Amino acid sequence: MTVFDPPTDSAARDGLTSAMTRSGQVERELTHDAARFRVLTGDRPTGPLHLGHYLGTLRNRVRLQDVGVEVFIVVADYQVITDRDSTAAIAGNVLELMADHLATGIDPAVTTIFAHSAVPALNQLVLPFLSLVTDAELRRNPTVKAELAATRSRGLSGLLLTYPVHQAADILFCGGNLVPVGRDQLPHLETTRLVARRFNERYGSGRAVFQEPDALLSEVPLLLGTDGAKMSKSSGNTIALRDSAEQTAALIRGARTDSERTITYEPIRRPEVASLLQIAALCAGSQPELIAEKIGHGGAGELKRVVTESVNEHLRPLRHRRQELAANPGYLLDVLRVGNARANEIAEHTLDEVRAVMGMKY
Ligand code: TRP
Repeated sequence: MTVFDPPTDSAARDGLTSAMTRSGQVERELTHDAARFRVLTGDRPTGPLHLGHYLGTLRNRVRLQDVGVEVFIVVADYQVITDRDSTAAIAGNVLELMADHLATGIDPAVTTIFAHSAVPALNQLVLPFLSLVTDAELRRNPTVKAELAATRSRGLSGLLLTYPVHQAADILFCGGNLVPVGRDQLPHLETTRLVARRFNERYGSGRAVFQEPDALLSEVPLLLGTDGAKMSKSSGNTIALRDSAEQTAALIRGARTDSERTITYEPIRRPEVASLLQIAALCAGSQPELIAEKIGHGGAGELKRVVTESVNEHLRPLRHRRQELAANPGYLLDVLRVGNARANEIAEHTLDEVRAVMGMKY
């Protein structure tokens, strides 16, 4: 789950406003013309997915799949080594991601899940794409900037500097025209749009070889981890989908609240309590205000009981499926290999077209 600050300069604000307007239109078109859209989205395999991922993105992927949109999910394994040295955990985490997706309802018969490293032609697109951006443009990307600040002592790897361009290749290789993102990810999508536009202008003589994708903005409430900080894998404050009901109960029991007895939904003044109420509401299909009212003077103990029950109740069937899937890594690998094969077929076709357009077919 990501936090975002409202953009401060007016150009960024205009960009956000038009992205929001466009995203709203797309959302309406989705229901009656799903076949027009191809969604590409994905995750870095850095660990099992948690409740924040599930409520924020996984559920939405399944929804898109189920309304008939063709969905591609990239397991961005090469992105893991943008900022860490060891590859030891990657293969295991790839299987965790597969289990999380299939358990949530991703259907491999209609949705393609593939690993970035298994699709050479996709990776080759990165080279001509890199010719279309300057290093100054890459350094202006807010995520690259933030990472640079965070990794100052070890330096910024070339892979990290260029990662908005790999993402452009992830999206454009399969003709992705819709990318579900949080607001903080909009700058990456801008790079993809820029790459598509410049490719068409420079190498395609104005022919629309690549389509500029739109953002599908997800309005996900900010969920906090059990320590009151932003919920994230690296903070160790998450409830993972693979956790048991007992582990979930223990995690929520230890969650930070505040000392006021009466439970109220006040996101600004009482962020920890509000986040727990949000989680319960999202899982139970209710409103946080209603849940707060019901708990009333029951205090933090009753709040935690309600949250635990709604999370466990909601996740029970998913966790049941997930356990079965996790016990069968051979099946998970098979599904990935089928996805890889399909992604390769498409990527080779795209690369072939790129070679032709660039006059480099020998
Ligand atoms: N960077 C994304 C993440 O950290 C994963 C990702 C890779 C992605 N390629 C993408 C997301 C293309 C959207 C589109 O989770």
